[in-house]
Amino acid sequence: MCGIVGCVLKNRKVAPILLESIGKLEYRGYDSVGISTVDQNGIHLKKGSGKIKEVNEKIDLGELPGTTGIAHVRWATHGIPSTENSHPHTDNEGNISVVHNGIIENFSEIRESLEKEGYIFKSQTDTEIIPILIEKNMNKGLNLEDAVNEALKIIKGSYAIGVISKDNPNEIIGARNDSPLIIGVGDGDYFIASDATAIINHTKNVIYVDNGELVILNSEGVVVKDSKGNVVDKNIDVIDWDAEMAQKEGYDYFMLKEIHEQDSAIRDTLSEKDKIAEIISNLDGINRICFVACGTSFHASLTGKYLIESMSGISTDVILASEFRYSANTLDENTLVIFISQSGETADTLKALKLAKKTSKTLAIVNVLGSSATREADFVIYTRAGPEIGVAATKTYISQLVCIYMFAAILADNKELLNTLNEVPDYVSEVLSKEDVVKDIASKYSDVNDFFFIGRGLSYPTALEGALKLKEITYIHGEGYAAGELKHGPLALIDDDVPVVVVLPPGDNYKKTVSNLEEVKARGAHVIAIGSCEDDFIKTEVEDSFCINDKVKEIIAPLIYVVPLQLLSYYISVERGLDPDKPKNLAKCVTVE
Ligand code: M6R
Repeated sequence: MCGIVGCVLKNRKVAPILLESIGKLEYRGYDSVGISTVDQNGIHLKKGSGKIKEVNEKIDLGELPGTTGIAHVRWATHGIPSTENSHPHTDNEGNISVVHNGIIENFSEIRESLEKEGYIFKSQTDTEIIPILIEKNMNKGLNLEDAVNEALKIIKGSYAIGVISKDNPNEIIGARNDSPLIIGVGDGDYFIASDATAIINHTKNVIYVDNGELVILNSEGVVVKDSKGNVVDKNIDVIDWDAEMAQKEGYDYFMLKEIHEQDSAIRDTLSEKDKIAEIISNLDGINRICFVACGTSFHASLTGKYLIESMSGISTDVILASEFRYSANTLDENTLVIFISQSGETADTLKALKLAKKTSKTLAIVNVLGSSATREADFVIYTRAGPEIGVAATKTYISQLVCIYMFAAILADNKELLNTLNEVPDYVSEVLSKEDVVKDIASKYSDVNDFFFIGRGLSYPTALEGALKLKEITYIHGEGYAAGELKHGPLALIDDDVPVVVVLPPGDNYKKTVSNLEEVKARGAHVIAIGSCEDDFIKTEVEDSFCINDKVKEIIAPLIYVVPLQLLSYYISVERGLDPDKPKNLAKCVTVE
């Protein structure tokens, strides 16, 4: 996935603004960066591979003339990170410059035929066909807008693009299909961007661009056209979060800031209660539920299965979005398929959503406003966690869980659980106030090579999530396991080099989980238990522990017990000298299948 920005400014140099704005999108990709501007003298361009800071130190990206320009951060999909493969890409004459987020599926055929016509390609990217197709169309006499339109007619795949041309020094053409694009409307300044974080310092007024729409930004304003060329009357929405919310606010990393925002994120998520009740009142005839998601969102979904089946008796499945198309499709009009996604842009999830829509009612539980999933699904619940910049999902996981808890409680008419959710923010604050305990445990175990995380029932997804966080940001091998399953194989791996984190809330599963704890202890494992502050067994028998208010019962434990696990991975990552916000090989939003 990549991030794009474009600005047409009234009377300021655009390159420094683009540099600042594209920096806000670095969570979308960070292997290359580039900026292109246009003025009466033509196209100007600087780009290179590496993080923005490194590239900027070498080639001073903000030093380009003009008031109109586009910028890009890349997460490589076609061609290695290199200067040639970095965006923006230009046509053969250097008169047109393009940034692109997405994947052009039929680029090889198009490239082959353009090469036969004599056009030269400098990169291995799918994107480079776009400026060259536009060039070809303009050579036939089309203006920029029509040339872009004609090019898009033969392109298959996903894209959000920004295009500038020497012939139109005050204009940007944007377009989208299955990749996010918004328009920012300032005071005489106009923007396009992959999301609002990039432009919120300049305007809070945004227009969400829909698939198939073309955007024309120039000094006169903004025009949006549909695929037939008709002008579309679009709403301007006002963003209700501010620039500071997208900054680190004094924390060393976004991940830590986002972990600390969880109590307030939960309060915001709880405000969706009435919306959820309204959706449920429209679900007549539903006799089966199926969750579909990836990664952390998949773990939240697993919790949903436990809650819904145990409280409502409605048969509930959980399917990994990337596997959805391979399972025999037994969904029907009485199935509700719930898609959980922070970004609302995950390609696997969107693909599954499009398939599920054919037979069943769909509900998307999503964090990013106006994202693709929210446009596809029949019903939408926003998690309201605010922007999450760290690649590792933390506050958005908790917010997803809160939505799922509210959904399950309302479905089962469980008022007691619904009321108990109001207590969760305080329990989370209490955990956060004891962060140093986790920090000490992290420093003790930061050199190990393997970890196990175990839990039973509702604590099993928590164990899976703890292990995923560890792998993702510390590069330590971590396995999440159902505590009772260890003896069926993995116990062979346990010795004093493998610490085992046991998720051990008080409740029905407590005793059996303690037996599993004893099993690993007997094999020499160092045990780290997360359990109640009143648990004498933990106090006396366990080497390391983090304790949680005894009032937190098993039913709501997933919402609180995951927090020390997030902190454990965070502090191990920092202890190992890594950047927890930008783990290697990963991107915040995965728009490839
Ligand atoms: O945006 P989504 O929730 O659809 O993303 C799904 C996964 O890619 C995501 O949860 C990933 O596993 C996180 N980086 C984990 O921290």
